[in-house]
Amino acid sequence: MSTKIAIDGSIHDEAEARISVLDRGFLYGDSVYEVIRTYDGRPFALAPHLDRLARSAGLLGIDLPAPSQVLTAEIDATLEAAGNPESNIRLIVTRGAGPINLDPGSAVSPCRVVIVAPLIPHLAALYEQGAAIHLVSAGREAGGAVPAGAKSGNYLVNLMALGAARRRGAHEAILLDARGRVAEGASSNIFTLSGEALSTPPLSVGILEGITRHMVIDLARSAGLEVHERHLRAEDLRDADEVFLTSTLREIMPVTQVDDWIVGRGEVGPRVHELRRLYGKLVRSTLPREA
Ligand code: PDD
Repeated sequence: MSTKIAIDGSIHDEAEARISVLDRGFLYGDSVYEVIRTYDGRPFALAPHLDRLARSAGLLGIDLPAPSQVLTAEIDATLEAAGNPESNIRLIVTRGAGPINLDPGSAVSPCRVVIVAPLIPHLAALYEQGAAIHLVSAGREAGGAVPAGAKSGNYLVNLMALGAARRRGAHEAILLDARGRVAEGASSNIFTLSGEALSTPPLSVGILEGITRHMVIDLARSAGLEVHERHLRAEDLRDADEVFLTSTLREIMPVTQVDDWIVGRGEVGPRVHELRRLYGKLVRSTLPREA
């Protein structure tokens, strides 16, 4: 198992990989990125991740330094060099290096990095018992200077919120916007289930359009659940029958505690079990059939 890093197309060992300290990704978080995981060693849902990277870059006015085919080939080559059974892939594009000043126009050569590391799965206990989440007022408003849908490298709000959650023993922080509405997790999207209704905050609250979120909405519809993209408040999480998080690395993770409140009966509920089963089936359907 190893970590390999491609910088502008050349592959390095972790200890040898270097980019300039003048790179704006380092100086300001002036970058965009994607986290992709493999199943059977192959990147899952690569096309929507590459599309979202292009959208994020477009929203920040960063020119993608290479077309999707080149990025795909670099991911494949880095995966091959790493040789892990399963990997976590981080694809980063920064605005590049330039004179030290804030002006985004002063950097003209974007830099691309592919980090392939062994996949470390989340603890099984989080799926068996459900995770605890902690609500954090992030005070963020959609429609600010940084477009909300862009997956930028600037995660300070999210990481400070996660720090607060971890200090309370919770697995994930859930960010509330300036009006107290539920937005998203520090690195996940959130859903509630009540009766036959699945609810999740709308994109207009200023959240990342999660690729797992999208797939789960489709799966829920096909399983006959009603899907509502609607504003949620803390009480909606506390009163729901079931709550869960989605993200590339978590897939579908049940939540059984919201701050000091227990969700439902404090156990992983039947609909989360069913959605997890359907998600597993979807993943398997993308793998080449064994001969
Ligand atoms: N993050 N919301 C935020 C703020 C995220 O950072 C992420 C994912 C998601 C879920 O998106 P997806 O289903 O496409 O993974 C929602 C990645 C995994 C990360 O930064 O680790």
